[in-house]
Amino acid sequence: MKRIALITGSKGGIGSAISSQLVAEGFRVVATYYTGAYQCAIDWFNEKGFTEDQVRLLELDVTDTAQCAERLALLLEEEGSVDVVINNAGITRDGVFKKMTAQHWKDVIDTNLNSVFNVTQPLFGAMCDKGYGRVVNISSVNGLKGQFGQTNYSAAKAGMIGFSKALAAEGARSGVTVNVIAPGYTATPMVAEMKPEVLESIVGQVPMKRLAKPEEIAQTVSFLVSDGAAYITGATLSVNGGLYMS
Ligand code: CAA
Repeated sequence: MKRIALITGSKGGIGSAISSQLVAEGFRVVATYYTGAYQCAIDWFNEKGFTEDQVRLLELDVTDTAQCAERLALLLEEEGSVDVVINNAGITRDGVFKKMTAQHWKDVIDTNLNSVFNVTQPLFGAMCDKGYGRVVNISSVNGLKGQFGQTNYSAAKAGMIGFSKALAAEGARSGVTVNVIAPGYTATPMVAEMKPEVLESIVGQVPMKRLAKPEEIAQTVSFLVSDGAAYITGATLSVNGGLYMS
């Protein structure tokens, strides 16, 4: 029986690399995409050359608690189980705090943090009942160190870490591990949106003097969901080229 891994934000830079990695390892991937983005999702699916057995596309608004509860309960019924949850969907709305709007605060907290409740809650009980599960939350170096211009994003990403430690304590005796990956600046469309001079200055502060490759984050996910990582829970693994050592 294939293990089933649900990945949010699966078409993005890191999400797409995670999807490819887990498919290559024999997982069946449920790749969620945002409301109305079906064409974009199917283009991605075709470009990657996935089969329907390897990847199931699922429209899901991760900020919508009721929709997640309903659609993920149905998914559980249809697939039999969901063994792995990768909370990867995330956005930025950068700006100095003095100028930050309440909407930009709310959008980031909803998409990056409230989503973790919305997606994990409907699936966690079944993982505990089965006695096996892996939850991997994709946080950020900026959730650990705080970043100028990212009060919203740093708060959400730090929140994911506290959430994961608490849930790890709840899942431990049922064989469900909950861990965090904190990537550094990674070569993705999100980072490409930054002002070139700001990005250049940040890369200059990275001891390895380069961005992470999305595949390097995907390899870390692969380890955390493997049987070999069964005793790791509540941990935060940094993959940041030495930018911040906690
Ligand atoms: N520390 C201290 N001061 C800083 C600073 C820093 N890191 N960065 C900028 N400043 C200062 C500037 O020197 C400037 O000072 P003066 O007014 O005295 O000239 C002032 O703060 C305003 O800075 P900006 O000109 O940059 O202001 P802006 O409004 O044009 O831009 C910003 C603000 C959009 C937040 C911009 O600073 C920025 O892009 N910062 C980087 C944010 C960032 O790292 N985003 C990561 C996105 S990718 C991601 O999030 C993925 C991940 O997980 C890593």
